[in-house]
Amino acid sequence: MTLRQLYIETVGCQMNMLDSEMVVASLKKCGYELTTNPSVADTLLFNTCSVRQHAEDKTYSALGKLKRAKQEQPDKVIGVMGCMAQKDQRLIYERAPYVDLIVGPGQLHQIPELIDKARRGDRRQVAVSLGRRDGTVSHIKRSHETFDPLRDPSMRPTPFQAYLRIQIGCDKFCTYCVVPMTRGPEQGRSPKIIVDEAKTLADQGCKEITLLGQTVNSYRHVDGGKVTRLSDLLLELHEVPGIERLKFVTNYPKDMTQDLLEVVRDMPKVSPYLHVPLQSGSNTVLERMKRGYTVEDYRDMMERIRATVPDAAVSSDFIVGFCGETEEDFEQTIALVKECRFKNSFIFKYSERPGTKAADRIPDAVPYDVKQRRNNELLAVQNQISEEDNHEFLGRTVDVLVEGPSKASIKKGEDGMLLQLTGRTQCDRIVVFEGNRRLIGETIGVGVYDASSHTLFGTVVTQHAGPELFTVQ
Ligand code: 5AD
Ligand code: SF4
Repeated sequence: MTLRQLYIETVGCQMNMLDSEMVVASLKKCGYELTTNPSVADTLLFNTCSVRQHAEDKTYSALGKLKRAKQEQPDKVIGVMGCMAQKDQRLIYERAPYVDLIVGPGQLHQIPELIDKARRGDRRQVAVSLGRRDGTVSHIKRSHETFDPLRDPSMRPTPFQAYLRIQIGCDKFCTYCVVPMTRGPEQGRSPKIIVDEAKTLADQGCKEITLLGQTVNSYRHVDGGKVTRLSDLLLELHEVPGIERLKFVTNYPKDMTQDLLEVVRDMPKVSPYLHVPLQSGSNTVLERMKRGYTVEDYRDMMERIRATVPDAAVSSDFIVGFCGETEEDFEQTIALVKECRFKNSFIFKYSERPGTKAADRIPDAVPYDVKQRRNNELLAVQNQISEEDNHEFLGRTVDVLVEGPSKASIKKGEDGMLLQLTGRTQCDRIVVFEGNRRLIGETIGVGVYDASSHTLFGTVVTQHAGPELFTVQ
């Protein structure tokens, strides 16, 4: 049987990467194989992101390039899936009328069937979930289905690392953010299903699981009278044989509860790495963003983290140039970044999203060049902190889960047994070192001799390490 050729392009967050993995796995079952060459593909899927305009522009530009190919080979099936599909069906058809299917993140299970229909000539298949005002909460929730069938190791970042969705949607409604609209109401998956999935992943050789949710630490599942929170779930997952590391992203500052911090402190498999976006260091801006906390609340949370898990690495996200952000507001963000000393920060220029409260009510008045300058300034401050903190590791040995050849090694096309490898510490620090290809997938000890803001450089100290051997994170 000749296999059909599937090309898939994914932009956006880890949730999208996981969705793509799931869709590829389900299509492989239907006789597809993956190709990296769009011109030989008979099905092309774009898994899209709507968080910023830039991500949408990228997708429209990729779709634009296919116009000619579709004219020449009308049998090619082109699909748009993910957040843009949920949000902008009409616009997508206006800008790329040759798209055959539009599938929101809550309807991904329908993709094989929709492709078949499109191929049979029934063009313009649309499957999306209900909007946030289009029914009762339970109807809307039901229309946003999680899609987590069998797992396909070949689509994962590495065979021994996997994402595991524990929560879909978001109910926080930060005024700038499109996610509550595209991914629907917050829903926690059942702990039983999550633990079973973790066991399957472990059986497939997976050592590190990253639990995913938009506000992962708000996770709650109620079954009968029994409430399961993230801390309970981590305790259960800790018992799954074969799993060595458990991470979880993204955290919401207000829900960083003490029980969770204690599990991070006490359970060796749980990474003392906490990604907790602050977004701004100004109370005025936080209020306008409707983030639901103040600078003082965030500071209290940081103090609790430092008191409970002193070695924890904390990282953050920031939006610069949000509606009406003054120079003084921005200076407060700089000051708080210096105070909190994040391991790293992801910094974004505010991008107005139609349909959000901010877009409806507050003008996007900060000029682009001011956003750009603030972005550069904040990044420079963060980079200096990251570099200083990384220097603390000089001369120390860290435990590293080896992920594969480093970027430089891939670029050079190194194909021998000895090559430059990359991996991460339990605290998510990137480490680069020379080593044998056989070490990929192992946890080893690496002695650090140099450090930059993003990377530790080291030499292999031991070939096998367990959490009991190396306590330095
Ligand atoms: N503009 C810029 N950045 C945004 N983010 C979310 N919405 C927007 C927006 N409209 C950022 C936030 C969030 C990260 C995933 O993306 O910092 O934490
Ligand atoms: Fe968006 Fe706020 Fe929800 Fe994060 S918490 S996904 S920023 S609405």
